[in-house]
Amino acid sequence: MCGIVGINSIEQIKVTDAVKRLKRLEYRGYDSFGYFDGKKLFKKIGQIIIPNIPDKSSIVIAHSRWATHGGVTQNNAHPHQSCDKKITIVHNGIIQNYQELKKDLATKGHSFIGETDSEVAAHYFEEKIKRKNIKEVCVDFIRDIKGEFALLVMIEGDENIYALRRDSPLVLGVAEGQNILASDIYAFSDITTKAIFFENDEFAIISSDKYAFYDKHGKKTDKKIQEFRWEQEESATENYEHFMIKEIMEEPKVARRLLMSLGAEQKENFRKFVNLIRDSRKITFVGAGTSYHASLLGVYYLHKCGIEAQTLIASEFEHFVGVDENTLVIALSQSGETMDVIEALKYAKGKDAKIASIVNVPYSTIQRMSEISLNICAGQEVCVAATKSFVNQVTLMLAIAKDFGFRITLDTIPDRIFEVLKQEEKIKDIAHSIYKHRDIYVLGRGLSYPVAREMALKIKEISYIHAEGMMGGELKHGTIALIEKGTPVIALISNSDYSMLSNAKEVEARGANVIKITNEMEGNIKINTSNDGKFGILATIVGQILTYFMALEKKLPIDKPRNLAKSVTVK
Ligand code: F6R
Repeated sequence: MCGIVGINSIEQIKVTDAVKRLKRLEYRGYDSFGYFDGKKLFKKIGQIIIPNIPDKSSIVIAHSRWATHGGVTQNNAHPHQSCDKKITIVHNGIIQNYQELKKDLATKGHSFIGETDSEVAAHYFEEKIKRKNIKEVCVDFIRDIKGEFALLVMIEGDENIYALRRDSPLVLGVAEGQNILASDIYAFSDITTKAIFFENDEFAIISSDKYAFYDKHGKKTDKKIQEFRWEQEESATENYEHFMIKEIMEEPKVARRLLMSLGAEQKENFRKFVNLIRDSRKITFVGAGTSYHASLLGVYYLHKCGIEAQTLIASEFEHFVGVDENTLVIALSQSGETMDVIEALKYAKGKDAKIASIVNVPYSTIQRMSEISLNICAGQEVCVAATKSFVNQVTLMLAIAKDFGFRITLDTIPDRIFEVLKQEEKIKDIAHSIYKHRDIYVLGRGLSYPVAREMALKIKEISYIHAEGMMGGELKHGTIALIEKGTPVIALISNSDYSMLSNAKEVEARGANVIKITNEMEGNIKINTSNDGKFGILATIVGQILTYFMALEKKLPIDKPRNLAKSVTVK
């Protein structure tokens, strides 16, 4: 996680402009932030606040932190400096062998002010630069470091920024009069469409008007500028109090946008994607969190039309899934940067599997690792909770399943979503009646099982209420012991699923406060669709709205819940 920015500009820029760029990456982590402008080192705990300062500089590096090694303290905030303060660094990733390096550097007289792994990088450069030139030090760093890094280094009296990368995302934006290094293109997508992506074990020397890239041996590499398109900027809350509700309300619009793009600019790719599925002997999805839940729904829909597939949570993928050259691995990821997914794909690549992906952020690492990739066109999602991206992931899954015979009219999805959004007040009342509870259970069967899990995840991360999303049939095998008088249980009953209805009755008989979300049967919230595919999307949206209003009642930091980050780039 963590967001990094480095700007090297011909003209002096306002330091606050650099911090504003960093703010665009705040979703990557918001435990603390800091910057160095060649003179001033600034660090602060908490979310990024644009400082009220007149300072200008032509070179700035900045960092927003999601803590891994070392608590959320001023000393652990980046940038970090060497003992002589001549080297300043910002780092995203984890230096796994930092303790060894720290011990070695300590014997050479270095002292450390914090507990982070990152701080060793500043001292490593300080130590090595005594005897070697900077290119040699970069080569040594890539050789000696175990772990991941997107590292920016500034050296006193030197007008360059040195940038090194392995596994953590890093991209150079080539803008007029300035070069901008960042964790992702969104940091500079407002001023340039030209980017150069770092490969693994590559480093670069970035001045204000030039750049040079080198491989791990210090040999110059030829890099091409990529023109990128990222016109879906939706970065203001507009009339909404929070990004979460704004992004939920955007769902009809983004679903329509996706469907149009599948029939237009993504048409050919979509065809190839479907053919790849058709021609593969084994199909396995991989994803984390919400994206995993979307993939579970995908497996369900494909299964319904006779295509057998499986899915697994990315961090456990290699322990449970065997892949070979006849396997197609389809990664689902909003950010396209989730480290667990990247690791699973590396494992699959190592076994010669084919890699395809479904992502939201274009040019992301996962997209670039894939033979073929489809974009879900949800636009930037600012709230940490995935909402509109889930809707579009599932819509895309349905479009694929439809190609294999799943019966659904895709074009009416946006209108059906709109009808659910209109039930906002009703859902708000339910939120009001249950938000004080410590535990909530969500039950589903078949297609509504992934929905139950997704709803529970939203409730946990945004409303801070313990929630379990379960298979309705599994409840009686243990968890039912936790049901007490008044325990809220949300039952997702699609069509005439009498087994699910029985599960709801079982908990009702034990005093639970059952809230039914249904389409055919009588329910507290009724969804206007008779289609299984649409029920999956629409019931999830009810959960998103419910979560939002529970968190609102509790006055929680809805868009930036504690301990989380939007892009999870650590294992
Ligand atoms: C939940 C949420 C996370 C992400 C997960 C994977 O609301 O946002 O569970 O779904 O971290 O992220 P991506 O989809 O970017 O790979």
